[in-house]
Amino acid sequence: MPNVVAVINQKGGVGKTTTVVNLAAALSRLGHPVCVVDIDPQANASSTLGKVSPYEARVTAATLLMDNKRDEDMTAPWYDTIEKEVRLIYGHVSLTKADRELPRVYPTMPSIVLKRRLEQMAFGDDDIVLIDCPPTLSILTINALVASDYYLTPMMSGSKYSITGYEDLMELVRDVVDSANPALKCLGILVTQHDGRKNVCKSMRGVIERRFGDLVFKTAIPLAAKIQESESLKKTIFQLDRQSNAAREFMDLGREVLARMGLGALAEPEDMDEPVEVGAGES
Ligand SMILES: Nc1ncnc2c1ncn2[C@@H]1O[C@H](COP(=O)(O)OP(=O)(O)O)[C@@H](O)[C@H]1O
Ligand SMILES: [Mg+2]
Repeated sequence: MPNVVAVINQKGGVGKTTTVVNLAAALSRLGHPVCVVDIDPQANASSTLGKVSPYEARVTAATLLMDNKRDEDMTAPWYDTIEKEVRLIYGHVSLTKADRELPRVYPTMPSIVLKRRLEQMAFGDDDIVLIDCPPTLSILTINALVASDYYLTPMMSGSKYSITGYEDLMELVRDVVDSANPALKCLGILVTQHDGRKNVCKSMRGVIERRFGDLVFKTAIPLAAKIQESESLKKTIFQLDRQSNAAREFMDLGREVLARMGLGALAEPEDMDEPVEVGAGES
């Protein structure tokens, strides 16, 4: 069975998609095949990782969840991506209909559809599934939590409001644990868009660490222009500049994530990269 992680926070712009894209790339470079499941109607992870537009994909998270007649592709409904060992189940704008459609198509079990679908898929034990969630606490996010072993919550350190609203998230997690998925655990809280020179970032990181203790990953993702650049060029940070600070931090996060899952690296990242030319591109 794969390890399944939902990346959740009902706030937009906190780094969920950036985390999914680059953590997927890091984990795959550490030897663990990754499948990204994009259940955000905005399909941002799909735009970055996918080789085709979400409109060209015949099977997407939307067909998977809401079209119960389509069973033929269920064992491998994913597509190759720009990263060698990362596969993708595309997001699609019609996921906005999930709140209405899932209870209609599956009146007795609208929150366990994704779990059922993932169970039908041909994953290996070393595989890791990362679910990129929409910025809502909707039926899609509930499906993700029900289908997952872990949830990971990014929080940006640059806003003093980054913790507000966390109680609502926790309430939803408790409901899911009590009703459908008692094994669900917090994989960790990830500080994102962190700028150690800014007072607000330093103080929020402190607040987050005092509040969540050991749940906070030691690795914080820096606020980095390269991360935005990679997104606009439709690359992962490793493809843009694997020697950048941001790439190093995402690789550290990958190692921390594996350790928290009780897994180890099955490959060293260099194995998958071109050798660096000595003297070239020094900065
Ligand atoms: N560490 C970072 N440094 C700089 N920009 C970032 C960083 N993380 C995210 N961003 C930018 O912030 C925006 C929101 O990030 P995103 O991952 O899409 O958030 P979410 O999925 O939570 O809505 C994106 O444009 C992204 O490029
Ligand atoms: Mg997103």
